[in-house]
Order: sequence, then C-alpha cells, then structure tokens
Amino acid sequence: MQIIKTVAEMQMISAQIKKSGQTIGFVPTMGALHNGHLSLFDKARQKADVAIASIFVNPTQFGPNEDYEKYPRTLEADSEAAIKHNIDYIFIPSVQEMYPEGYSTYVNIKNITEVVEGIKRPGHFNGVGVVLTKLFNIVAPDYAFFGQKDYQQTLVVKQLVKDLNIPVEIFVEPTVRLENGLAMSSRNKYLSEEERERATIIYKSLIEAKAAIQEGIKNRLELVKIVTNKLNKEPKIKIDYVCVALADSLKEVDQFKSNDNIVILIAAYMGNTRLIDNMLLTII
Ligand code: PAF
Repeated sequence: MQIIKTVAEMQMISAQIKKSGQTIGFVPTMGALHNGHLSLFDKARQKADVAIASIFVNPTQFGPNEDYEKYPRTLEADSEAAIKHNIDYIFIPSVQEMYPEGYSTYVNIKNITEVVEGIKRPGHFNGVGVVLTKLFNIVAPDYAFFGQKDYQQTLVVKQLVKDLNIPVEIFVEPTVRLENGLAMSSRNKYLSEEERERATIIYKSLIEAKAAIQEGIKNRLELVKIVTNKLNKEPKIKIDYVCVALADSLKEVDQFKSNDNIVILIAAYMGNTRLIDNMLLTII
C-alpha cells in the first residue's frame, strides 16, 4: 500500500490506472476507521481492480461549535487497517493541500439538504459536497462506497454526482453494528463503556418501530411517538430529532401507503456525543 499526500501525485496515479484500462473503487473517509469503513474497503476491493481510500478530516463540513478539533485522528492504526484490507493507495492530503490560500469555490446543494440533518447542521452537506467533488476529481473513481449509517449523506451524494455529471457509480452498504446493536461510528470513541451500552436504546427504538410497521401501522406521527417513547426510557439520551419519511425524498407525509419505502432517522445525544442512526423499512 502506498500513502499519497499531494493532489498532483494522486491525480497522476489515477490517470495511469485509467490509462492501463483498470477500474478504481474509492472509499472516502475521515479516518478513525472501524468495521463499517473496513466493510466498505472490502467492497471496493471486490468490485474494482484498484482500491483507493482517502483519510481527510474535512473542516468545511464541521460547524463552528462542532468537534472538528477533537475528531479522533488515528493515522497509524488506520494505515495498518488499510494494509490488512488490501487497499492499494491511501490518499491523506493536508488541509492546506485541499484548501490552499485563496480557495474560493463551494457547492450549494438544495432540497434534500434542507431537512433533518441539514437543518441541525447548517452548511454541513455543502461542506461534504465540496470535498467529495474535489476528491472525485482527484481520484477519478469508477465506483465509490458509502455507509447507510449516514443515510441523508448518501442521498446528497447521489444528487451531487447526478447534477454535476460526475462519472462515478455510488454504492451504499448496510450499517455495521456492534453485537449489542449500536451502529459503528468514529464518534463512539467519545463514549464510555456504560454510555455505549445505554446508547443501544437507539437501535432498540428502531426495532420497535419495525415491529409496529409489521403490525400494520401506517401513520407517521404514531411511528414517531413509538420511537420517541422508547428513546425517552433511557434518561441519559437527549433526542435531537426523530424523523419518519419517504426514503427517497425524505418527505414527511402524514399517512404512508402499502409498499411505501420509508426511513426512520434518529439523532440523539449521549452526554456530549451526538449519534445518528436509521432504518429503511417498507410499509405493509
Ligand atoms: O462520511 C464521512 O466520513 C464524510 O462525510 C466524507 C464522506 C468522507 C466526506 O468528508
């Protein structure tokens, strides 16, 4: 595995790979790699001739009061994990390399960013949009892999590549969970053992909603209530939002119809740590 630090070198390598007729599978990450990322690495490895990952804690997607400074940076362990999972190149640019002095271009993604996570984290998805546009231009992947845990992000990425005609196929892979159900996240590193156990209420509340749907519930507010009531059983959890919406548009219709594909999205604080999770379900 080779570590690449400059845009110029990464672009040269990608161009050579393309010229030789090989395909590139790409996994963009912010590091602090866990099994969720590693399952994406494995998918990229299986699908493409050459597997490339990036590690870049992107400042433009963090709000002023968010955890940019303290976001876990575990480069050595990450490199070892990437080697184990047969990644060919890992692109680790500096902030200066990605956003040099005089940097002035931003993307503004509308509609799908104007609900839930986009409201709670103003500017977040535009930051994701700009860094991914740059990374896609630099790495030129045929395929890119994202985790379902960041569900709204996957919708944003699909919209971005469609609107800007970026020739990359987007794959969304299932959320990887701990045995107790907690979705794997780099931010789990902020949690104590006890908090990690208590945070499993998030997954349990999704399971409860799933059971309610299987019993025939179609009303959105009823589903929101089931999830909210369950989450409130854990005193250390503070709900940021519970959103039940159509899966492709995130529209919150009052009454769902049979066969509607819906998503339940949760953001909640465990102490100071903000966790998100979701479940895709079909109304019966
Ligand atoms: O999901 C993430 O880790 C980040 O939002 C991404 C896609 C790497 C962009 O910085």
